[in-house]
Amino acid sequence: MGEERSTGWFSAIRTGLEWQDADHRHLIGAMDLLEDSLSAGQQGQVLDDILDRIDEYAQHHFAREEERMQATAYPDEAAHRLAHDDFMEQVEGFVQRRRQDRSQGRLILSDDLAIALRRWFVRHIQTMDQDLAAHLKQAGCLD
Ligand SMILES: [Fe+2]
Ligand SMILES: [Fe+2]
Repeated sequence: MGEERSTGWFSAIRTGLEWQDADHRHLIGAMDLLEDSLSAGQQGQVLDDILDRIDEYAQHHFAREEERMQATAYPDEAAHRLAHDDFMEQVEGFVQRRRQDRSQGRLILSDDLAIALRRWFVRHIQTMDQDLAAHLKQAGCLD
């Protein structure tokens, strides 16, 4: 459901690198799912599973980008890595807050957080990832 909602405008944020676009699409789909689940009042295991999926897949995706930055001596590698770390901190904060809420008997994860996460990610693609993709294409590093 989430993935379908994203496909219409996804072409606007494509980088043109197949592996990178596929990863972005997958992650945005998972974020859509998170947002939908929260809007629907879902607070159980389903939510934990989606959060785990975002956590794991984001780590995997960032590592893929960082490997290629290093392999091609990307000049903005440090700043780009910091941005990735910042995102992972947000995801971790999300997971921790959920754990806390649960231990206090509260299950109140707001969908604002999911929206903020998604907004950050889309902006990152539009800026840093586009720059990286242009560099990788120029370096002939296409996959
Ligand atoms: Fe990316
Ligand atoms: Fe990135």
